[in-house]
Formats: sequence, structure tokens, C-alpha cells
Amino acid sequence: MTIKKCCILFGVCLAFTLNAQNRIPEVEALLQKMTLEEKIGQLNLLTPGGGVATGEVVSKNVEAKIKAGQVGGLFGVAGPEKVRVAQELAVKESRLGIPLLFGSDVIHGYKTTYPIPLGLSASWDLDLMKQAAQMAAREATADGINWNFSPMVDIARDPRWGRMAEGAGEDPYLGSRIATAMVEGYQGNDLAAAHTMLACVKHFALYGASEAGRDYHSVDMGKIKMFNQYLPPYKAAVDAGVASVMSSFNDVDGIPASGNKWLLTDLLRDRWGFEGFVVSDYTSVNEMIAHGLGDLQAVSALSLNAGLDMDMVGEGFLTTLKKSVEDGKVTEEAITNACRRILEAKYNSGLFDDPYRYLDSKRPIKDILTVENRALARKLAAHSFVLLKNHGQILPVKKNQKIALIGPLADSRNNMLGTWAPTGDTHLAVTVLEGFRNVAPNATIGFAKGANIADDPIFAEHVNVFGPRIEIDERAPEVLVDEAVQLALNSDVVIAVVGEATEMSGEAASRTDISIPESQKILIRALVATGKPVALVLMSGRPLTIPDEYELPVAILQVWHPGVEAGNAIADVVFGDYNPSGKLTATWPRNVGQIPIYYSAKNTGRPAPESGEFQKFRSNYLDAPNSPLFPFGYGLSYTTFEYSDLKLDKETIGQDESISVTVTVTNTGNFDGEEVVQLYLRDVVRSITPPKRELKGFEKVFLKKGERKEVTITLSPNDLKFYNGQLEYVAEPGDFEVFVGTNSDAQLSKSFVLK
Ligand code: BGC
Repeated sequence: MTIKKCCILFGVCLAFTLNAQNRIPEVEALLQKMTLEEKIGQLNLLTPGGGVATGEVVSKNVEAKIKAGQVGGLFGVAGPEKVRVAQELAVKESRLGIPLLFGSDVIHGYKTTYPIPLGLSASWDLDLMKQAAQMAAREATADGINWNFSPMVDIARDPRWGRMAEGAGEDPYLGSRIATAMVEGYQGNDLAAAHTMLACVKHFALYGASEAGRDYHSVDMGKIKMFNQYLPPYKAAVDAGVASVMSSFNDVDGIPASGNKWLLTDLLRDRWGFEGFVVSDYTSVNEMIAHGLGDLQAVSALSLNAGLDMDMVGEGFLTTLKKSVEDGKVTEEAITNACRRILEAKYNSGLFDDPYRYLDSKRPIKDILTVENRALARKLAAHSFVLLKNHGQILPVKKNQKIALIGPLADSRNNMLGTWAPTGDTHLAVTVLEGFRNVAPNATIGFAKGANIADDPIFAEHVNVFGPRIEIDERAPEVLVDEAVQLALNSDVVIAVVGEATEMSGEAASRTDISIPESQKILIRALVATGKPVALVLMSGRPLTIPDEYELPVAILQVWHPGVEAGNAIADVVFGDYNPSGKLTATWPRNVGQIPIYYSAKNTGRPAPESGEFQKFRSNYLDAPNSPLFPFGYGLSYTTFEYSDLKLDKETIGQDESISVTVTVTNTGNFDGEEVVQLYLRDVVRSITPPKRELKGFEKVFLKKGERKEVTITLSPNDLKFYNGQLEYVAEPGDFEVFVGTNSDAQLSKSFVLK
């Protein structure tokens, strides 16, 4: 088919012409030599096992398939020597010698595991996040990996969904900024450099909106919500030049993402201009059979025609596409196009120049788990912690005291890395007990387990799929509590490390009850009853419901799952060597009944009274307030900050003008510290119902105690835009209200008019 003819057919002349101009001669020459079977082979991504098999199959006869030119890439293989064996099979023993891509899930660090992404996002520090991604890329490429299945940018507003741990929370603006930072960090300026790798934004799309927070469940969403709330972070990754996209397990408007032409072609390629390749999620093509879309041949053809280029593990492409060409269901041209995109990625990675460029056996020692990397992981962790409460300034704790370190997570190496850390090594993790001893060598530190993470053996079995996370003690629960209480009574201060085991969040780890398990609640109450000052160090991969614990006279430091340097970083913050500065990136509900809950909800036609008081025939609940326990953006510090003098540089602006917002922030407490100054915008009247407010800017600033600074955040014309009823990206004239402050409840406000 000529370019012109196909343009008329698909109505995407511009995109096609551009693609044709950008073609890489080496790739085109190679395509000329390839048989149909060899092209189909490039669309096949396999795993021989060794990573995490999240589906029901692991690939068979991988070696023979590589030699036969039936494999485009592998994942679950790492280390220069092992990768070299596989690469040599492809380069030396397949007919055309096309090198393989080597993928991996480097979700929060390669070997130097840093906090789970939800935790990392709470640092609101884009520069640090970029450094984290750069470190991950340097380590992974040192081990032979050139393609990363990250960043995961799924907006999530339902903390029952365990995979909230893997993303940046609920907000499209923050999520987009983080997506950009991560892509830039992984890919750098040169994909062929030895320390950069291809990124893969996932899971396209809307995976975080699965019904009832149950993993892999259906998604049903209107286009306006999609475009305004859920799609922006994927688009930001595309705009940042992400090399690949992973389609999600869920359906979008009734068609599973992996076979959804509107999603993978009309939106992603034609509207957004994406030029990289799209890979399915693990066996997600085959899973379309269970979704109810036909047999393997039918769903494979549907996926290819939709714009999917690479089939992860399921081999539907490998085993059926040739027949589909013969049957006239798929064109060879469509297969060539998919193959071209994969070959272009290989070319851009520098693999055609040197297939072994990531296989320097001297690099692992030099680049992996270095002292500098561990120091960065420790810093990233400390910056991710969120101080939720500090009753009586219990924190920070003095180093020269008798400390009771209590709780099932206080000395639990297996639970420090967090979910989706398949390349990390739990044995290397620093426990909280070890961290306390490192940071406060002169303190007297006693330890007691105090409780099991959970007492229910069946629940424990569900959680322990990748090894022991919940270890149920031989001693009775009462004995554990008694021992802890005795220790507390003999100490000056109690630090209780409680919360979720690592695999209580993550993939296929949805919960209907997101409170602290009962065994630990009993322990917490018993410790508080001793009358000793108690600080809770809370671990989790999601927001939890903790209204009861919040009512207690305690301090609460949320630490997520902090990674390999967990114990050291926790000690740094507990003992005040670092003043916590993290802010929540997802709202914490009071109870599961409030879910989905997010700060940027709409006003409704019958808003509840501002006072929070119940009123009949208003949008509220009989049995709980609408407000969350902790709003988006919330987080305390050991010091206090005051906001004043909010100013705008203009009262009226035109469509192409920016507006600067300035506020004075003063550190009014007794510690130096950092504050995330947040700016929210309300579009007062517009053609589709506006959210009550939306984050449109932030700045993290350091203030010495007593110091005062003016902080200016500039809103650009795009910050006023949204997708209207026709899905056009516009700013509509009228009034806007700006709110600036310490979290999404910020009250300081000013108005301006857009002409
Ligand atoms: C997950 C992806 C992951 C893939 C490969 C799937 O189950 O959804 O996030 O990249 O497995 O490991």
C-alpha cells in the first residue's frame, strides 16, 4: 500500500508522513531481508523464569526459539554473563543475528532498592526522583538490562487496590511531573549510552481505576474524566520521549487495553504522536479470551490490528499471526510496522552497533550497591517519610535514652524492601533495630516483637507467596503483648514499628479492610496504656484507615516500605538527624466506605456544609464526615511553617499570559526544615463541572529556623486548561481562585480573571 493510500484509509496523513521521513535506513534494510516468520518472531517477548512470574506460564524452549529467530526480547535474565549467553544465541545462531532486548521490572531501584514509588512520590522532590531513576538505570544496565518496565503512572484513588504502592498516588498534575522526571532519569539524553535504558510507561491505561479496588477488575470511565484525570501522566511520559508503552490488563470502554485500537492507535499514536513500541502486559493478549473476545487467533489479530507491537509471554502472536495473514485477518504490512518499531528501539539502544554494549563484566562491582548508591537510597527513604501526628512532640527522640523498640516490623528484614522489588535482595536490608543501633550507639535499646503482623494463618498464607513475610509466632498473642508491655514499662520511650507486611500491597494484593490488623491494634493500645510516650512508625504500601490510632496520644511517622536502607533512614528521622518533609500523595480515608476519595472531587449541586455538619438532602453521609482523615498534600514537620502575604502579579490575564503567585513562608518552630509549598487552582465557572480545586504548582523549600522566604510559583497558560466536552484542550475565560498552603486544604486565597 502506498503511503498516500494508507493515509486516506486511516486519516492520519501527517503522522504517517512524519514516520516515513524518520525511518532509519539500517532498520529498513534489515526489514527487506526478513521473512514473515522472522518479523513475527521480533514481536515475541519471553521469560525463561528467574524474575517474578505473575501469570500462569513461564516460557518453554527459549533457547531453541531464540535460535529460530522467534524471540524479540527476554526478561527475567540478568547479569552480564547470563545475558551474554542469550545474546550470543540471537546474534550468532539466528539467521539474521538480530540482538535481543533485555527487560526487567526495576520499579524502585535495581539492587539498591529505594522506597516504593508511592513513598518516593511523597518526597515531592523531582530532582531526587530523577537521581533515583538514574541510579536504577546505572545499576540495571551494569547487569545487562537495557529496557525497564517502569515508570508505573496509573492514577489511583482507591487504596483497596494494592498496586497503589507502585505509582505516584491520586493526582494527575503531580503524577505527570513525576512521570517526566522518571523517564528522563532512566533514558537520559542518549539511549545508546551504556548507563541509560529504555523506559516503558505503564499500564496504559486506567489500570488504577479497577472497580472496587480489586486487581485486574473492569474499568468503566467517561472520556472527560479519562482525559482530565487519568490520562495526563501517560501523556507526560510520551511527551518526555518514553521509548515504550505497556498496555494494561483491564478493559477501556468495553475493549481490553491490549486489543483497543482507539487507545493504542487513535489516541496514543495519532493524537499524541507516540513513535515507540507498545508491549502487552504479562499474557494480557491471551487473557482477552477470558474477557470474552474470542479464541487465541482472534484476540491476537485484534491486538495487532489495534496497534500492539509485542506480546509478553503469551505467544499468541508467534503461534497465530501467520495464519491470520493467510486468512486475511491481518496484513503483512501491519506486522512489518510492529516489527519496525521494535527494531528501531534496538537501534536506538545502540544494540545494532554493539549487541554486547551492556555486558561489561567489570561493571556490576563498580556500579551496583556502591556506598554512594546506598547513601542515596537512605536519603530517598528519609525524604519519603510523612509525619502524620506528633502528640506532645514525642519525636524526635533523644539518642541517650532507654528505648523500647517494639513491633512485628521492628526486626523484620523480609519486609523492608516493599512490593515489586524482584531484583533487590532482602538479606541486604537494614532492619529498624540495626538502624537504631547504628545511629544511636549510646542508647539502651530493648526489642520485643509484641504481636504478629496478623494472627490469621490463611491470610498469612496468601501474603507469603514470595517467602515468609508474616511469621506467626509460636507464643500466644497475649504472651507477646505482655513481653512488650514489660519492656515499655522499663523504658523512657516506646517506638512501635507496625503496619503492613511487604506483600500486603502490590500486585494481586487488594484488601477490603485497609486498617492495621487487629493483632497490632491490640498491641498499640496496650503500649499506650503504659503511659509511656509512644511513637508509631507505620509501614504500608497504601493509605490505611487509622482513625482509632489517630485518636491516641501518640506520634505517627508513615514510612511506607523504605527499601534496603530502611532501618538507617528511619533512625535518621526518629532521632532528628533529618527533619521529615514528606507530604501524602494520596488522601487517607477515615474508613473504606469513603472510597474512592480524592481532594479534587467536584462540588456537586448539593454540597455539604463547609462546617462538616450533617444536613439532610445534602451530599454527605449519615455516619461519617465527608472529609478524610488526612488530605492530599498533608504532612507535618518537627518545626512549623506559617504562610502569609499571598500576592498575584496581575488581576487579569490574557490567554497567552502567565501569572505569578507569591507567598511568604516563615519557619516559626525550633528546627530547620523543608516545606512543600502547594498551589491549587479553582476554575470557578466553566462548560463542564470543575473540580473544587486542582494542584497546579509546588515548590520544596528549605528554611532555617526563624527564616522567612518569598516563594513564587508561576502558572503558565496550560495550567488553566482542561479537556472540554469535545475533548479540546482549552482555557475558558472567567474567574479563577488560587489557594496556597501546606496541603490541599490550603485556605489563603486570591482571585484573578482570564480574559
Ligand atoms: C505486571 C507488570 C510487569 C509484568 C512483567 C505483570 O504482571 O502487571 O507491571 O511489568 O508483569 O513482570
